[in-house]
Amino acid sequence: MSEVFEFDKATEKLKLLDAFIETQPTKEEAVISVLHKAQSLFGYLPPDLQLYVARKLDVPAAKVYGVVSFYSFFSEEKRGDFTINICMGTACFVKGIDKVMSEFSNQLGIKNKETTADGLFTLNDVRCIGACGLAPVVMINDKVYGHVKAEDVGQIIMDCKEQKGV
Ligand code: FES
Repeated sequence: MSEVFEFDKATEKLKLLDAFIETQPTKEEAVISVLHKAQSLFGYLPPDLQLYVARKLDVPAAKVYGVVSFYSFFSEEKRGDFTINICMGTACFVKGIDKVMSEFSNQLGIKNKETTADGLFTLNDVRCIGACGLAPVVMINDKVYGHVKAEDVGQIIMDCKEQKGV
């Protein structure tokens, strides 16, 4: 269940989103980039925020909902500070990404699509992210990790924690 999105507590972020929308040359074609921006600002895309984007871009809400549900990168649920996107595309799968997914799952104590109790990490399987030459690939927020092995997982988690000063 998505939690209630409180617009009155998000005015600064909405201003940033509005400013980004103003920079888009054609609003009709800007849906994906605006949703990326919205997710990077808010961390997720609850239905009320999707509706806000649809109204701002003057496109049908169904179009925005369709894009959000089609791309596994987008999430309607609140996520942790670090979204660990694990590429389950063919090239990554052949190179053993399933072992990497299992290792993250074991070390964090969560399953795919879940968030750790401290709100730090969300595990998320995604389709090919277009970096097959680096397979197996993990993308954490905007950072891409290539040739990831199960043995690397502990260090990657440590690096994220260090970034947060945890
Ligand atoms: S299959 Fe993983 S990046 Fe393409």
